[in-house]
Amino acid sequence: MEVICPFTPRSGAIAGISVGVLAGILLSSFGVYVKYYLKKKAWKKNLTLDDSKMMNSAQIGTEITGLLVEKSQEFSYKELSIATNKFSMSNKIGEGGFGEVFYAELRGQKAAIKKMRMKASKEFCAELKVLTRVHHLNLVGLIGYCVEGFLFLVYEYIDNGNLSQNLRDSERESLTWSTRMQIALDSARALEYIHEHTVHGYIHRDIKSENILLDKRFRAKVTDFGLSKLADVENSTSSNKIVQGTFGYMPPEYARGGVAPSPKIDVYAFGVVLYELISAKQAVIRDGPEVKGLVALFDEVFDHETNPTEALKNLVDPRLGDNYSVDSVCNIAKLAKACTMKDPQLRPSMRSVVVALTTLTSTTEDWNVSSFFENPAFVNLMSGK
Ligand SMILES: Nc1ncnc2c1ncn2[C@@H]1O[C@H](COP(=O)(O)OP(=O)(O)OP(=O)(O)O)[C@@H](O)[C@H]1O
Ligand SMILES: [Mg+2]
Repeated sequence: MEVICPFTPRSGAIAGISVGVLAGILLSSFGVYVKYYLKKKAWKKNLTLDDSKMMNSAQIGTEITGLLVEKSQEFSYKELSIATNKFSMSNKIGEGGFGEVFYAELRGQKAAIKKMRMKASKEFCAELKVLTRVHHLNLVGLIGYCVEGFLFLVYEYIDNGNLSQNLRDSERESLTWSTRMQIALDSARALEYIHEHTVHGYIHRDIKSENILLDKRFRAKVTDFGLSKLADVENSTSSNKIVQGTFGYMPPEYARGGVAPSPKIDVYAFGVVLYELISAKQAVIRDGPEVKGLVALFDEVFDHETNPTEALKNLVDPRLGDNYSVDSVCNIAKLAKACTMKDPQLRPSMRSVVVALTTLTSTTEDWNVSSFFENPAFVNLMSGK
């Protein structure tokens, strides 16, 4: 019987070559694996070292993270000078209590640089680092800073100017009522965030229509958040007293002095901004020698004996024409009234304000005030009792 051998001389040669190739592949794979393994081990070792450094520094104020972030946050004076055309007057976009603001093109991005009058102390820089880490859609981002000579703060650039300009500059198109409501909600969200969701529980202390900026889509972003705190830090180390808050927006208890700042200061100022959105009037109205606050003007409306709604309609911004809902304006005015109560305890929290505005801006729901406000005095006020 003929036995068929599977290994003919030719097939033996092929098998030999195949085994050789396979062994070669296996060997080189093993080599690559060993190289990779050693590399990974070394990398892991480094990582563990870095991690433990991070862990150790966590207790002493996240120094490592701070230093890493700081690099990209700190700008040189030279860089800022080039970006602002040597701080030329044609780049200047405004001036306020803390210094001048310049338009800049920095690292391919639009920026606003605030040249502060004060110099930066060590405590000041620590506070700045915290501020650069606070991010919210409705807060103007602090990109970085420069401490060469004077202090410079670098902010993201917001295209459409501040709310005050948009309400009162006749060359700008009038804001619609629904845009005004959205601006109110955006600003309220920013304040709720800094009061309740930042580690330090900040208070803005200078809420006003100049510090609410409008972006390309007319969505609001609150700016200058944290500056009052910075000023505080500076006051404790220098003799230059910086006045905080703006006349017309300061609640009575704060204007009198001697009271520690509380979030209810911002609630009051926010109420004034709501009145501005309704009337487009300034927080302080000068009529010849007479000076009147917007809060007092609206309080007269609420106290109107015969027809408060008609009195309110007389205060509505004429540029709105008939393009607003009287009910909606009444509700916003009531909310503003609650925010500007003399007794800070009776003012709602910004969280309650956000809830109220969210409901008021959605067309589908009725506004049931009693479900939002735990304070009986406030509930009575809102329901017109
Ligand atoms: N990030 C920004 N983007 C665009 N424009 C800005 C920016 N920051 C400020 N501005 C413009 O510069 C103006 C001046 O700002 P600044 O904060 O110095 O003064 P203010 O808001 O009037 O008063 P205060 O010093 O009390 O805040 C603003 O009103 C705004 O129009
Ligand atoms: Mg400002």
